[in-house]
Amino acid sequence: MSISERVKNINPSQTLAITTQALKMKREGKKVISFAAGEPDFATPGNIREEAILAINQGFTHYTASSGIIELKEAIIEKLKKENRVEYIPSEIIVSSGAKQCLFNAILTLCNPGDEVLLPIPCWVSYTEQIKFAQAVPIFIPTYQEEAFQLSAAQVEEKIAPKTKLLLLNSPHNPTGVVYDQEELKKIAQLLLKYHIYCICDEIYEKLIYDQAKHLTLTSLNDEVKARTIIINGVSKSYAMTGWRIGYAAGPEEFISGMSKIQGHSTSNPNSIAQKASVEALLGRQDTIAEMRKAFDERRKYMVKRLNKMEGVSCLNPSGAFYAFPKVSDVLKRGIEYQGKKIENSVDLSDFILKEAEVALIPGSAFEAEGYLRLSYATSMEDIQEGLDRIEHILSY
Ligand SMILES: Cc1ncc(COP(=O)(O)O)c(C=O)c1O
Repeated sequence: MSISERVKNINPSQTLAITTQALKMKREGKKVISFAAGEPDFATPGNIREEAILAINQGFTHYTASSGIIELKEAIIEKLKKENRVEYIPSEIIVSSGAKQCLFNAILTLCNPGDEVLLPIPCWVSYTEQIKFAQAVPIFIPTYQEEAFQLSAAQVEEKIAPKTKLLLLNSPHNPTGVVYDQEELKKIAQLLLKYHIYCICDEIYEKLIYDQAKHLTLTSLNDEVKARTIIINGVSKSYAMTGWRIGYAAGPEEFISGMSKIQGHSTSNPNSIAQKASVEALLGRQDTIAEMRKAFDERRKYMVKRLNKMEGVSCLNPSGAFYAFPKVSDVLKRGIEYQGKKIENSVDLSDFILKEAEVALIPGSAFEAEGYLRLSYATSMEDIQEGLDRIEHILSY
């Protein structure tokens, strides 16, 4: 088969592969507990659902402007002004089918083949593949559990080279849960100006932060930084709207119109009904976020405590998102044998946990971080208790 080199180079999503395997086991009647999901287990709030129903009943079911309806752009502008203290105009906003499409459009718009993109690792699974799809080159910047996965300006500067085009930041972060330190972010912003590079900031977990963590939107710093940065955000995680597929980007008009060209020739507009619902998400009552955050916070504390009690497992308290990211390299060193084969890496270990404990989780290697596992706590407390009991049990012999 002569499929293109570009597609041959792309790895399938390991997250989706594990979710599919877990679903298959569930269909076979197994009581699989999933810590694999990247989405809130809550229902989309009622006020948002009602707006969607209204949109259908009013016949708002046709194509819209490719880059999104003006009402939604205005709602996004208002949100950014009020919550992030940064001002945009409608031509600097694009609405897409999820933050993932915004990222894809943004990377394709900014990168020429051979351009280097700085990417702190561990990192979310799709960044590397999207960069490769654009025929750009991911340059990894390792961050470490010992440093709470924080990224320093010095680490970024060390990797800047003549071909560096772009820095891709994600804070709050999937999978580590780190929220980047504000002072360090300010120094990183200075590097954009010093070396004339661009930045994409993925802020999709912005509202899911805990303890004393504070989120900083880079573009609120000053106009020069704003002129080099595209913010990516959306309603998926904050409003339990993953299936509605609405994300948005804010950035310089030239970039946004480039992104719109790609979108206009690929998916056209994001879903009309979901756009109407998203206006309500951004402008309507916000108390459901606090309820969701409270539940995540309790589960987070419980999960981290339990993980740290397991031999060979060490887990930081994540400050954002809804994932625990324990280090399991000491478990791997124990040389556990499963089906005649030694468990040597995070894929072997997650496979063992899935088959033997019937708990689905994601191996660290999916995030360019061997020796770790990612467990989502966006699931019920009962499942978290039961799932951790099972993991503890099979790891204890
Ligand atoms: C860091 C990060 N960015 C973007 C996305 C994609 O969000 P959406 O569902 O809006 O496409 C995800 C989803 O898992 C994510 O974890």
